Parts: sequence; C-alpha cells; structure tokens
Amino acid sequence: MKILITAGPTREPLDPVRYLTNRSSGKMGYALAQAALEAGHQVTLISGPTALTAPEGVSLIRIETARQMFEAVRDHLASQDVAIFSAAVADYRPAAVAEQKIKKTGDTLTLTLTLEKTEDILGSARSLFGYTGFLVGFAAETQHLLAHAEEKRQRKGCDLLIANDVSQPGIGFDSGENEVTLCLPDAAPIPLPRQTKAALARELLAFISQQATLKTSL
Ligand code: PMT
Repeated sequence: MKILITAGPTREPLDPVRYLTNRSSGKMGYALAQAALEAGHQVTLISGPTALTAPEGVSLIRIETARQMFEAVRDHLASQDVAIFSAAVADYRPAAVAEQKIKKTGDTLTLTLTLEKTEDILGSARSLFGYTGFLVGFAAETQHLLAHAEEKRQRKGCDLLIANDVSQPGIGFDSGENEVTLCLPDAAPIPLPRQTKAALARELLAFISQQATLKTSL
C-alpha cells in the first residue's frame, strides 16, 4: 500500500528569530514510518522539524509551518491508500510575522500576541481534498479523552482515531513509550497496552492494514 504519514511539530514564526511550537519530537510518526516500511509499504513522510533521522527508503518531505504541511498533504494525498496524521500541528499562528526582531521596549511589562487559526489539515482531507482512502487521525488530549477523541473522529471523517492521553507522565510527547486507545465507528473503543513507540507502531500498522483492506473489499 501507499501510506502517507505526518510527524513532528510545526513552527509558526513570530519574527526572524522566534517561533511558536510544541513538545512533539516526531518519535511516534517516525516509528510509524519505520513500521510501515518494514511491512513492505511505500511511505511518504511529511515531517516538521525534528532531531531524528528519517528511516532509509521513505520519501521524506520536510516542512516547518502548518501552512507548508497543509500544502504538502494537499499535493500528495490523492494517490495514498492510507493517511496517518500523527503530527502535532499548531492550531494557531501569529497573525502577523514581524520583519525585524521584536524589541523589548521601555517600561512595558507585557506583550500581547494576536494569533489566527491555522489550516485544519486532517479536517480538510475529506471535505476539501476529497480523499477517499483510509484516514487515521490522532487526538492528543489532557481530559475527557474518549469523548473528545470520538467527537474529533466524527467531525474530521476519520476511519480510525487514535486517542492519546498526553496528561500521563512517560507517554505521549517526547517520550520513548506511548499508550493509546483506538476509536472506530460502530465499535467499542479498544485500549492498547503501554509499550515502546516502535512496538506500538508495529501493532498500529498491522491493525490499520487489516482495516484498510477490509474497507476496500466492501
Ligand atoms: O512526536 P512525539 O513526541 O512522538 O509525540 C507523539 C504525539 C503525542 C505528538 C502523537 O502521539 C499525537 O498524539 N499526535 C497528535 C497531536 C495533535 O496535535 O493532536 P490534536 O488533537 O491537536 O489534533 C487532532 C488531529 O488533527 C491530529 O491527527 C493532528 O495531526 C491533526 N491536525 C491538528 C491541527 C491542525 N491544524 N491540522 C491537523 O491536521
């Protein structure tokens, strides 16, 4: 199968030397790319800035901002059998990027930033790009995990939503392990045990391949 994976954070510039970002290391997405390659799939990895080396054999597209990730997904999605959105895309970016470094001025103790919404890439897959393949989203939540994940699954038209409780120490952002729950339409949530991201990625890939094959054979 042809599998597209998004991974890592995005960086949203504020001025020539500063940006807004988040704690994503890219480990989950890169582990998925590695597992997909090992299972014999053709992988396109669209990655935000990370310290990781991409698995040999993936087609790697590096991006920095949410807008660049949106454009890369838009340009590569149509031909993919499966798309897995594990990236932690910024939901907001500075509404204006200062041309020069923002200076610390006089006696002012606060600086107010105006942010605007970024493109919802996963939410655009069905509605804007007309994607009909097997669509997998992640949900990073700090409360009401399953309720929020199920709401996201439905709103973004996902075949599978991987719910990630990022309030738990030792899993989620920038850790070697993860623990997730699978949310599918018309089925009870499936909790998976805590394990290394490499092991989890292999388990996820096996499940996704099986579900995607089932969907295409219907
Ligand atoms: O990179 P690691 O350090 O290994 O950490 C892994 C992880 C915690 C980042 C990963 O397991 C994870 O949970 N990824 C989703 C992070 C996230 O931003 O979740 P969200 O609930 O905010 O977004 C929901 C979904 O919409 C995600 O599939 C996200 O990729 C997508 N999204 C979000 C915002 C946006 N503007 N466009 C999107 O496509």
